[in-house]
Amino acid sequence: MICRKMNYKMILVLTAIALLAGSAAARSTPSPSEPWEVAVRAVVATAKLKPTNKTLSSATGTALLVIPRMDKSKTMIVNITLKGALTNVTMAHIHLKNASAGYPIVMFLQPRLNYSARPALLDPPISFKGTYTFSSSYDMDNILNVTPGWTLDRFMSMLGDGLLFFNVHTTSQPAGAVQGSFVCPYSCMWPVCSMPGGGSC
Ligand SMILES: *[C@@H]1O[C@H](CO)[C@@H](O)[C@H](O)[C@H]1NC(C)=O
Ligand SMILES: *[C@@H]1O[C@H](CO)[C@@H](O)[C@H](O)[C@H]1NC(C)=O
Ligand SMILES: *[C@@H]1O[C@H](CO)[C@@H](O)[C@H](O)[C@H]1NC(C)=O
Ligand SMILES: *[C@@H]1O[C@H](CO)[C@@H](O)[C@H](O)[C@H]1NC(C)=O
Ligand SMILES: *[C@@H]1O[C@H](CO)[C@@H](O)[C@H](O)[C@H]1NC(C)=O
Repeated sequence: MICRKMNYKMILVLTAIALLAGSAAARSTPSPSEPWEVAVRAVVATAKLKPTNKTLSSATGTALLVIPRMDKSKTMIVNITLKGALTNVTMAHIHLKNASAGYPIVMFLQPRLNYSARPALLDPPISFKGTYTFSSSYDMDNILNVTPGWTLDRFMSMLGDGLLFFNVHTTSQPAGAVQGSFVCPYSCMWPVCSMPGGGSC
């Protein structure tokens, strides 16, 4: 069932791992930054960012989440690229799409805050024209405590259900100027290690 969903790129990756499997056992653990390691061991989610009101802003962008298998690493990576122009960016968060709960913040990206924090504004706010990128890594233990009672399974199921979205707030659009929902281009589940070639999981 999983095989049918795999695309050509994934099959290539798994083939490469199958070929490497013999020597892999003898080697030390490869660096997690190798591209095939990221593809095989992590869930990758992306969001296409669009202006909430094109009259007020034309900025676009992409957001990338890389969530490793917890037995490999506890560090989740968030990479954001914004393009166009925005004035007075005050905050950027990942929110949960739950209107009755008031779209709660799941991760504080800008300013980067930990789970015990309350929303705070960038001081001074950030303005840009062209491209603005930021990148952060987060300890999953911290993220899961942002919303009391959350577990990694809950986080992943929200991600899989398309309920997590990225939102950039500005002074003129405090509710959000640029937004996008996260989707997993491959799968929101980690690969099954018993699959052929999965020995290095
Ligand atoms: C977008 O912003 C303009 C200017 O403030 C406003 O007139 C318009 O109603 C907004 N559009 C939507 C869909 O909110
Ligand atoms: C995330 O951004 C950093 C810094 O720009 C970059 O080095 C890294 O390769 C990016 N990670 C991914 C998975 O794109
Ligand atoms: C949305 O929030 C309400 C109120 O806090 C809660 O009862 C409900 O379970 C939430 N739904 C999801 C899918 O988290
Ligand atoms: C979170 O931030 C608060 C306030 O800046 C700080 O006092 C606390 O030690 C931090 N906690 C963790 C786990 O980093
Ligand atoms: C941006 O912030 C500055 C100072 O905080 C303010 O003077 C200016 O009007 C703001 N511009 C917009 C477009 O919000």
